[in-house]
Amino acid sequence: MKVLVTAKLPDEAVRKLILAGCDVDGHGEVRPMNREELLARVEGAEGLLCTITDRIDREVFDKAPGLRVAANYGVGFDHIDVAEAGRRGILVTNTPDVLTDATADLAFALILAVARRVVEGDRRTRSGQFRFWAPLHFLGTEVSGKTLGIVGFGRIGKAVARRARGFDMQVLYTARKPLEKREEERLGVRFAPLEELLAQSDFVSLHVPLTPQTRHLIGARELSLMKPSAFLINTARGPVVDEKALVETLRGGGIRGAGLDVYENEPELTPGLADLQNVVLLPHVGSATVETRTRMAEMAVENLLEGLAGRRPPHCLNW
Ligand code: DGY
Repeated sequence: MKVLVTAKLPDEAVRKLILAGCDVDGHGEVRPMNREELLARVEGAEGLLCTITDRIDREVFDKAPGLRVAANYGVGFDHIDVAEAGRRGILVTNTPDVLTDATADLAFALILAVARRVVEGDRRTRSGQFRFWAPLHFLGTEVSGKTLGIVGFGRIGKAVARRARGFDMQVLYTARKPLEKREEERLGVRFAPLEELLAQSDFVSLHVPLTPQTRHLIGARELSLMKPSAFLINTARGPVVDEKALVETLRGGGIRGAGLDVYENEPELTPGLADLQNVVLLPHVGSATVETRTRMAEMAVENLLEGLAGRRPPHCLNW
């Protein structure tokens, strides 16, 4: 039973696949598999363990008519044609929950980093420019007591809200459907339509999946509704933000800054973004802790093996 693994995983995960009788193929390198390699190697595979950088579409399915399970190593699945997989009887799975805390931590790291100019401060200190302490030197923005607007209130959005309570922040959220009043009280949050949330928040943090409805959810108009003193944080998916409009807005002082972990055309950056001093740019590392990446691997392997055994995988998107 051939299983294609498109990126190097923790050894234990691969061992489990081998012990389960899988004939594991892959390039075994840390870098993602390129398109040509993927199309060539997927031939004959019954199982596929892919990552968010692989586009899994008709062309891939055509190359592997025997494919039965595509197990994604990640929670977001906008790179997989789940509907087409369903039509062909291919199970698609993902790895929810296990990366919630790591991603929420990173969103908060970005909030603190942009507000307190952490990265800029590090750069200055290393380059020998820390010459004195002074009352008006290197001032940032207070986080405690401010208003945080959370766009998308699923698992990760809620985990960010829990962290915000520790900072005595007021939390607004927007979602397709408001929570029950009692649940809002329990979490200490208030529903606000997107426009109100954008206008009132000091920090806006995005936590929606990428879908046709959320592509460019935050464009020039939405950015213009934010306070000039506000910050935008994106640890969700790059194309949720119109990155060109964001660069223009940041350049013109329309908002104070941004903390980004994801990009519209990853790994490329929109020209001008990297020249801005008021942005913190990370290389899509929301889930990148040893603990989380290990759990993601275990979950992806379990999903794959259950599906190949003809049982419903624990985290199946189309069964
Ligand atoms: C995901 O899982 O969707 C993240 O973007 C990467 O872990």
